[in-house]
Amino acid sequence: MTERRGLFITVEGGEGVGKTTNLAFIADQLRCNGVAFVQTREPGGTPLAEQIRALLLDTRSEPVAPMAELLLVFAARAQHLQQVVQPALEAGKWVLCDRFTDATYAYQGGGRQLNQGAIGELEQLVQGSFRPDLTLLLDLPVAAGLERAGARGELDRFEQEQLAFFERVRAVYLDRARRFPRQFRVIDASGPLSQVQANIEHVLARVLGEAGARS
Ligand code: TMP
Repeated sequence: MTERRGLFITVEGGEGVGKTTNLAFIADQLRCNGVAFVQTREPGGTPLAEQIRALLLDTRSEPVAPMAELLLVFAARAQHLQQVVQPALEAGKWVLCDRFTDATYAYQGGGRQLNQGAIGELEQLVQGSFRPDLTLLLDLPVAAGLERAGARGELDRFEQEQLAFFERVRAVYLDRARRFPRQFRVIDASGPLSQVQANIEHVLARVLGEAGARS
């Protein structure tokens, strides 16, 4: 991928960790600091990728082969990268993305127990060396997250999974955060919202400071 100035920030976490609320907070912070950015999500972010998202989330009687699920996730990602993410970054904008490939390691690798090496090969094929500049991982014990998510009503195909699935998802996220400390910042999402957002603000202030110093 070509030389770029904008930063690619992703937000990750299990079910019910407060991603939506905190993404809105991050977007506000970027706006207040005069950062030109595009907010998007995975799977999705383009009309075609949103159709793939609907296929992935729909509950259905036919069991979905984990490998089919993995390939659909990367098909959506390839489209999203070409249509939205790369053009924005190349235009100097930042991109704020609700989930990215770390979710694939967590959900398809951890949750579905697919081979992490196979995910790595697809990552290489679809993204080359492209990775997020910063990933905010909102972390919460699984039971607490599921309680919050359950209160929202109808559950999608992933939300219907059992506790053990989400324990594996969380374990992979935390493992990746330990292995890639330059990319990840783990935010404890179990405390009051004001505390969570103070932590996020602190992380963003550093990143904004560094980005300012570079330009
Ligand atoms: P969201 O509703 O949190 O935006 O995400 C939709 C679901 O998609 C969520 O349960 C996690 C799942 N997902 C994967 O399984 N693999 C992926 O690579 C991504 C990006 C999301």
